[in-house]
Formats: sequence, structure tokens, C-alpha cells
Amino acid sequence: MKISIKTEKEIEKMRVAGKLAAEVLEMIEPFVVPGVSTEELDTICYEHIVNVQKAIPANVGYRGFEKTICSSINQVICHGIPDKNRILKNGDILNIDVTVIKDGWHGDTSKMYLVGKCQPHNERLVKITQECLYKAIEVVKPGAYLGDIGHAIQQHAESNYYSVVEEYCGHGIGNVYHEEPQILHYGRPGRGIQIQEGMCFTIEPMINQGSKYCKTLQDGWTVETKDGRNSAQWEHTLAVTSSGVEVLTKRQEESL
Ligand code: MF3
Ligand code: CO
Ligand code: CO
Repeated sequence: MKISIKTEKEIEKMRVAGKLAAEVLEMIEPFVVPGVSTEELDTICYEHIVNVQKAIPANVGYRGFEKTICSSINQVICHGIPDKNRILKNGDILNIDVTVIKDGWHGDTSKMYLVGKCQPHNERLVKITQECLYKAIEVVKPGAYLGDIGHAIQQHAESNYYSVVEEYCGHGIGNVYHEEPQILHYGRPGRGIQIQEGMCFTIEPMINQGSKYCKTLQDGWTVETKDGRNSAQWEHTLAVTSSGVEVLTKRQEESL
């Protein structure tokens, strides 16, 4: 399949879906406290999407995944499965990743939450990873290259002594959840395909404190760092405009 170019009407629908996805991450924030289980957070998000937003949680039933959110704590890189026995504790760092479908169009976003009081090394990982996403978004405009995105992320991560996970990447998104192109979070400037107005894709860097290597657990989903050190991730869904980029999943707390 070729990379789809969205019309202004389609981008308007992506805007609606993106805003709903962002609102889920805002809505859940006050519930992210020590003592809550990741399954309770999942249920709250599910109910909000279905009953309040009248939308569809895209992860439910996606390739056999059964939950609304991915909840990835500490050494979990991505695709953590919400679980009634996984209770958040003071000092955990948590990623919640959610995708909402509205009127057939997808909005996919994730953010990191600091649970209670976190250690400075974890706060630093979370902050630098968010900067990686923001620096990548800054390079997006028609005529730039996908390699410019990867390079911006890799450069910032590695200059802060972190590593970039290579097995998972961002993706085109629209009326299909994961479509072309793949957005690698590492790379070289001027390489890869050129960005065009009307493209919609995610950028979702996963950054590790230790080595870049990962492993998938027996449950078939949970991806952890091989060395057991912590990992962070932030994700936005973007639309390429004539002059640059629009962040479709922007939250109120963000200036962008
Ligand atoms: N939201 C993830 C992404 O950013 C995909 C999660 S798939 C699931 O692409 F099945 F694990 F939910
Ligand atoms: Co995604
Ligand atoms: Co996601």
C-alpha cells in the first residue's frame, strides 16, 4: 500500500479523534496514584470512551489484545496489559497509551505519569524522552525526510546517555490504525522518504536508561528492557500541514 494523503475533510475527522484520545489522558491523570490497579485505570478509560465520548477504544480486540489502554510501568517498554494485581506504588513511572476511533478515524497518543514522588533519575528519563518527541515534531514539515525525525530523537537520547528502542516505531494512521509509513526513532538526516502535506502519522519514541535491547514476556504482549533498567515513551498523532505540522493529540498542558 502507498502512503495515504488525507484531505482537509479527513484531517478534520482526525482532529476530532485526536482530541478525544488526548482527553482520555487528561481525564485519567487524577486517578494515577499509589494504590490503584492498572485494571482500574483501564476500566475508567473504557467507560469514558464508550459512555461519555460515544467512541470506540481501538485496542480492544486489536490482534487479540483485550484492554483499552496499554499500561507500561518502569522496565516495561510498551504494550503492558492492565491487571488487577498490578497496583501502582510510590515512585513508579507509568506510560498510558490509548487509541480512540471516532467516525471511523483514529487518534493514538501516550504520556508518562510520575506516581507519587519519583527518583530524580526516573524524572530525568521521562523529561528527556518527552523532549525527544518534541524535537522530532519540530522537524516535521513538507520536504523534510523521515530520517530527520529519527535523527533528532537518536541525537537527543544518546547525548543524554540513553538508548533508542529499535524494534517498535511510529506509523501512518487514519481510517486504519497502523498504516504506512513506518516512523523509525533513529536514523540519519536526509535519508528515507520525504514528508508531504496531508500525511498523518505518529511519533512515539521509546527511550531506555540502559541498553536498547528488549524482550517480550510469555503473555505475548508485554515488552521489557533486557537489562531490567527503566524505559519511557511519549506519543502524538500528527498531521502535516502546508507550513509544518499540527499535533492532533495535543493536551491542554502542552504549549506546542
Ligand atoms: N497504541 C500502540 C501504538 O502506539 C499500539 C497498541 S496495540 C495494543 O501503536 F494492542 F497493544 F493495544
Ligand atoms: Co502508535
Ligand atoms: Co499508541
